[in-house]
Amino acid sequence: MSHNLISEPTADAIAAAARALLRGRLIGLPTETVYGLAARGDHTDAVNSIFAAKGRPRHNPLILHVGTTDDARSLLADDLDERLKNRLERLQSFWPGPLTLIGPKHASILDEVTAGGPTVAIRIPDHPVALAVLKEMKRQNGSAVPLAAPSANVSNYVSPTTAEHVATGLGELVEMVLDGGRCRVGLESTIVFLGTADTPPCVLRSGRLSEHDLAARLGESVAIGALGEQAAAPETRRIAAPGQFAKHYSPHTESVLLPIGTPPNPREGVLRIDFAATTNLETTTSHSISHWTFAADGHLETAASNLYDVLRQADVAGFQRIEIVACPDQGIGVAIMDRLRRATSST
Ligand code: TXA
Ligand code: MG
Repeated sequence: MSHNLISEPTADAIAAAARALLRGRLIGLPTETVYGLAARGDHTDAVNSIFAAKGRPRHNPLILHVGTTDDARSLLADDLDERLKNRLERLQSFWPGPLTLIGPKHASILDEVTAGGPTVAIRIPDHPVALAVLKEMKRQNGSAVPLAAPSANVSNYVSPTTAEHVATGLGELVEMVLDGGRCRVGLESTIVFLGTADTPPCVLRSGRLSEHDLAARLGESVAIGALGEQAAAPETRRIAAPGQFAKHYSPHTESVLLPIGTPPNPREGVLRIDFAATTNLETTTSHSISHWTFAADGHLETAASNLYDVLRQADVAGFQRIEIVACPDQGIGVAIMDRLRRATSST
């Protein structure tokens, strides 16, 4: 496969990416979580092209990426409640980082970004290339431009963690893909709704930062919800009925999740993937029987970082079925299990 869309992130390439974005084009952008499909978030046509490229339903809102906390604040409502200001103040200390905050939107935010809802999702990514592009856009434009960026995969497929993943999945639809190497975290950001004056903040998507990390920084407890519940517009809430969005991040190959400790059962055409390598792996000479792992070193952070790349490789390796063994539901394992349940969901 020829991927001449992929560029090393030289100063020239970053300047070219910023120019293309300001002209309304799409770029594959590395972040520490997953690669984003970025377009300027303040232009209707540019934002619309994201939905078209991904085949993403228009009722699914986008995250706006910015470079500074001041730029983040300017995307939120002018008259933020004091309690929300305080939560924002505390949680933005995780930025740049794998955290997305949702709060009441500023009047200037496009309906296309928020899916018509009253809130906006904001993040400062912790990746030098993403931050350099945001800074260069600000320089060329004379003022900050937020980047709308969902994960750079076709809607519902496995998220991308390398520049090659982006080029393979979206190819000619993007002007260029900046190569920032493999994503360090490997799972999408933790999403937190800031709540209201009367309701607590709420984790809507698990990620590298856990509810405990958040609660400790906030000095108050954090509710657990699901995307589509708390923060969305009424019409979005209706569409996101329970289970509707269960299937996500999915390989095309039939995939199932097995409980921890399920003994290996090698069969022709079946790939088994364990969280960590076990000592009693069946060795086999057949090419069609395989046993892989997400983390040879046994660390959950490594498994998270490798998860999507291993799932993508498994999907194109020609197996009839992929059997994935669960990992411990603790630390970042909570987020890994969330993604694995969705990847193996049949609905
Ligand atoms: O790590 C990440 O968050 C990556 C990188 C590229 O930053 N982005 C990402 O974007 O995962 P995406 O679009 O694949 O997932 C964002 C999720 C979607 O499920 C969307 O429904 C939800 O955030 N979302 C965005 N804005 C929202 C809002 N105002 N209210 C509720 N949910 C929102
Ligand atoms: Mg996504």
